[in-house]
Amino acid sequence: MEDERELARRWVKEAKSIAALTGAGISAESGVPTFRGEGGLWRNFRPEDLATPEAFATNPVLVWEWYQWRRELIGKAEPNTGHKALARLEASGKEFTLVTQNVDGLHERAGNHRVRKLHGDLWRLRCTSCGAEWPDRRVPLAKLPPHCQCGGVARPAVVWFGEPLPMEVLRASADAAEEAEVLLVVGTSAVVYPAASLIPVAKRGGAKIIEINTEETPASGVADCRLRGAAGEVLPGLVT
Ligand code: APR
Repeated sequence: MEDERELARRWVKEAKSIAALTGAGISAESGVPTFRGEGGLWRNFRPEDLATPEAFATNPVLVWEWYQWRRELIGKAEPNTGHKALARLEASGKEFTLVTQNVDGLHERAGNHRVRKLHGDLWRLRCTSCGAEWPDRRVPLAKLPPHCQCGGVARPAVVWFGEPLPMEVLRASADAAEEAEVLLVVGTSAVVYPAASLIPVAKRGGAKIIEINTEETPASGVADCRLRGAAGEVLPGLVT
């Protein structure tokens, strides 16, 4: 009798097109706290309370202090074996689309080049006045809130609750999910939409859903294979 990991490994090996949807859990072993679940807590703040346009309008410095803290923490983090396994999957020559909810940039640092970032990028800033966007990896940022050259206040170029996702990224991610023969759902609580909707989209497209998570999630019921364990421990075994 093939065990779940061997089954998942065979599905990945035999698939021509694979997609992955990752969440904060894939970065947990890099020392980046998750938002929810065991041990997940960003400095006692619920993301729903701070990652919103309203919170930023009310108290831009507090929101920036939270992002400053995250940038300092993530700036010291290194990609882990889970990130590196997905980079190997991209390099394997299979049709592979990596879709992430994470804003930490660890997938790119692990070697993935084509990363669809549904929720933006912690290392980019956007002007709230003129809309200009630019990379800024300085840690710490000298002054909070940072300002644009036009004088406008800058915000993190990430998607906050209540804000639309980048349409082009979402559309391309949905297309990849629909065409995938296998969807790896890695380290996400699958409670935030529309990101989580990629799972039923892939299922309807005929994909086999492999969930890699330390805990049960709302996606577990849809998954064809549930690998309970840490992404950094499970993923390398799936990818040659
Ligand atoms: N390996 C695999 N899964 C893990 C690990 C690990 N080492 N550690 C934790 N997990 C799982 C948790 O069980 C949980 O299901 O990762 C998941 C993390 O869930 P969340 O913290 O909710 O993160 P995520 O699903 O990415 O959140 C989605 O919510 O706050 C917003 O925009 C933010 O992108 C984020 C979105």
